[in-house]
Amino acid sequence: MSWRRDSWREYEILQQPTYPDKNELQNIEKTLNELPPLVFAGEARKLKSELAKVCNGEAFLLQGGDCAESFSNFGANNIRDMFKVMLQMAIVMTFAGGRPIVKVGRVAGQFAKPRSSDYEEINGISLPSYRGDIINGFEFSKEARVPDPKRMIQAYYQSASTMNLLRAFSRGGLADLHQVHKWNLGFTKQAEVDEKYEKLTDSLTQTLNFMHACGMNSDNTPAINQTSFYTSHEALLLPYEEALTRQDSLSSQWYDCSAHMLWIGERTRGINDAHVHFLSGVHNPIGVKIGPSATADDIKRLASKLNPENEAGRLNIIIRMGADKIGKILPKILSDIRSEGLNLVYSIDPMHGNTIKAENGYKTRDFDKITTEVKSFFDICKAEGTHAGGIHLEMTGQDVTECTGGAFNVTQDSLKERYETQCDPRLNADQALELAFLISDLLKKA
Ligand code: PEP
Ligand code: CO
Repeated sequence: MSWRRDSWREYEILQQPTYPDKNELQNIEKTLNELPPLVFAGEARKLKSELAKVCNGEAFLLQGGDCAESFSNFGANNIRDMFKVMLQMAIVMTFAGGRPIVKVGRVAGQFAKPRSSDYEEINGISLPSYRGDIINGFEFSKEARVPDPKRMIQAYYQSASTMNLLRAFSRGGLADLHQVHKWNLGFTKQAEVDEKYEKLTDSLTQTLNFMHACGMNSDNTPAINQTSFYTSHEALLLPYEEALTRQDSLSSQWYDCSAHMLWIGERTRGINDAHVHFLSGVHNPIGVKIGPSATADDIKRLASKLNPENEAGRLNIIIRMGADKIGKILPKILSDIRSEGLNLVYSIDPMHGNTIKAENGYKTRDFDKITTEVKSFFDICKAEGTHAGGIHLEMTGQDVTECTGGAFNVTQDSLKERYETQCDPRLNADQALELAFLISDLLKKA
């Protein structure tokens, strides 16, 4: 069946809201359709070429950001701090691994959430689940939980404004490597991580001085004071994605211009379902989350549908099996796939397979489980002759207490102190940086 940007409507679809007013929905879709794209197709192509290097083991992918962006936590400081932590992590990993880090935020559009249950029950009252600020409200009230298409417009403008700031940060001097000393966010309490970071930035300063002496400076070497930072989100709410899908005037190909990269979640990757069909027709780099129930055949089928030309950098397989399961499941999958010669970027999401409910009711993830899954992923890739290509994280630049453990040791009791996520628990800035050091060791070994 041929692809049009609206042909997904003829397919089975999961995890969608039911809007009470269909006319209003159509009007909003029409409005969105007339608004400018958020990204340019040429940028998505550039990301694809960088991901092709990841596929060949010449670069490493760092994808991270909020589980769900929200309207209420929107602000310049949050965006800046997340950007800084990602850059700090990238520097740590580049220095150790000697490979460029491709930075992709879960940002400027990461609003829609798949839910394991359609309803949420609190104190005997059952209401439709919160599905992300682009769909309905987080507040536990009947009114807030009604899906409202106008939220798509607000999400669009918030994404545009976020994108604008990220572009300014990337090009306007904040990403200058000479500033790196100043990037300490001020609450890194863990002496050991701090010390390691200090040491690394000292070597970096020495290197920059050496380069300067050799005649390389930010005037003739833009990489010193500029960086590339890409955006991504789960392409879950297809009316929104369709409206921002545009035909590129240069190549005549279709691109989903809501973000550089889009992914399909673990719950909506059915091979004959709407989400896979929709993304099969756009030319952005795309990802698919792969949980513990997947087989090698599932991945082969997804690859043949989503990347029929076996283009390197087009398809990212994001493994999220959980620390206790990955060792039993992933080795066989990788060994079964190996002979197919598929060009795939493999990355690890060590968050979504390790979510637990703490005794006090908080949804959390333990830092040990996260690092264990990351280490297993590297070990398994090495044993199976595959490149460990990247990491996919839920993280923030803020000092939240949502995941337990880490060098500063957030306990289950302290989760309540600064538990700010509207969805899944994120690594705080310290935990994210600590994980970057661990990955840098793994990259060195790999
Ligand atoms: C997510 O990335 O926020 C998510 C819901 O992931 P998954 O589809 O892997 O569960
Ligand atoms: Co999540």
